[in-house]
Amino acid sequence: MFRFAQLVSLAACASLAAAHTVIVYPGWRGNNIHTNGTVSQTDASIKPGSLGINYEGNGTYGFPYGMQWMYPCGGMPMSTNRTKWPISGGAVSLQPGWFPGHSVAQFYINMGYGNEPLNYSHVAVPVFSITGPSNVQYNGTFCLPQIPLPANYTPKVGDNATIQVIELAQHGASLYNCADITFAEDGDPEIPNVNKTNCFNSTQPDEHIGFQMVYTTTPGAAPLSIQFNPYVSLLAPLVLVVATWVTWL
Ligand SMILES: *[C@@H]1O[C@H](CO)[C@@H](O)[C@H](O)[C@H]1NC(C)=O
Ligand SMILES: *[C@@H]1O[C@H](CO)[C@@H](O)[C@H](O)[C@H]1NC(C)=O
Ligand SMILES: *[C@@H]1O[C@H](CO)[C@@H](O)[C@H](O)[C@H]1NC(C)=O
Ligand SMILES: *[C@@H]1O[C@H](CO)[C@@H](O)[C@H](O)[C@H]1NC(C)=O
Ligand SMILES: *[C@@H]1O[C@H](CO)[C@@H](O)[C@H](O)[C@H]1NC(C)=O
Ligand SMILES: *[C@@H]1O[C@H](CO)[C@@H](O)[C@H](O)[C@H]1NC(C)=O
Ligand SMILES: *[C@@H]1O[C@H](CO)[C@@H](O)[C@H](O)[C@H]1NC(C)=O
Ligand SMILES: *[C@@H]1O[C@H](CO)[C@@H](O)[C@H](O)[C@H]1NC(C)=O
Repeated sequence: MFRFAQLVSLAACASLAAAHTVIVYPGWRGNNIHTNGTVSQTDASIKPGSLGINYEGNGTYGFPYGMQWMYPCGGMPMSTNRTKWPISGGAVSLQPGWFPGHSVAQFYINMGYGNEPLNYSHVAVPVFSITGPSNVQYNGTFCLPQIPLPANYTPKVGDNATIQVIELAQHGASLYNCADITFAEDGDPEIPNVNKTNCFNSTQPDEHIGFQMVYTTTPGAAPLSIQFNPYVSLLAPLVLVVATWVTWL
């Protein structure tokens, strides 16, 4: 227990920079891998008093820490170019390795309901953990071909919703990214194809992404309580999870 906590805190100190996510499928709101709005184009210092999103006074916003840190959708407004997505659930494909710092990350996939969701508190895929091939930027994709709708959610064909992907970086801060969808009948030809080009798990050694369970311990309680994620198959036993942390350090 102590050892693990120590590893985590060391990991936080060793973190180089920030993970960033690209949603490959369904199409995202747009490219939010941007950092701008610093003191000037030649001075990357943060403006005094910055809130993280700064109104520049000319109709634009600056993101001196980077857009993806902003709840709920990484600084991107609702889009009007929605993607049709199956009413009984479908694919979500991601590239987690943009920018250094994501040899280990946790992912959440949630939904917000309606055109302009009130919140994104509806969990579609419970938290899972990944390990990337290295702690520097890497190419690599993983795809969950059939994620379900959140519990007790029964939309109609034509209803709109937003899929929110959260990547929890090593230091605990969260990166947000969204894809706006319109529900369509399963098999609707307007649903973009899911194929080997946009939905795959990288296999090359320098792009391989591993999946792990997320587990919790209760101080004082004897047994280790392990939270299984039914939507992500478990590739590694617990021992390997700890081994990964050690190797990564
Ligand atoms: C929607 O349009 C934006 C802006 O042109 C683009 O960046 C984004 O990729 C588009 N998304 C989809 C799902 O087509
Ligand atoms: C708005 O102001 C910011 C900060 O001065 C500047 O970086 C940006 O280029 C301006 N944008 C436009 C469209 O004028
Ligand atoms: C920062 O980049 C975002 C995304 O491209 C853009 O919407 C915004 O206007 C930019 N802000 C400034 C101040 O240039
Ligand atoms: C869903 O979004 C589309 C495009 O933004 C819009 O035309 C349509 O009216 C919305 N559907 C509903 C049920 O609000
Ligand atoms: C979140 O939004 C849903 C509708 O999408 C609403 O029913 C629910 O009450 C909201 N939850 C909170 C905590 O606001
Ligand atoms: C990622 O792939 C692109 C295109 O194949 C290549 O140019 C680039 O060097 C690769 N980056 C890394 C970090 O492997
Ligand atoms: C895979 O599907 C996408 C649409 O989602 C399409 O643009 C692409 O051409 C398809 N690729 C292949 C090899 O069929
Ligand atoms: C990728 O791996 C995950 C975890 O094992 C699995 O659930 C998913 O089905 C795989 N995706 C594809 C396209 O095989």
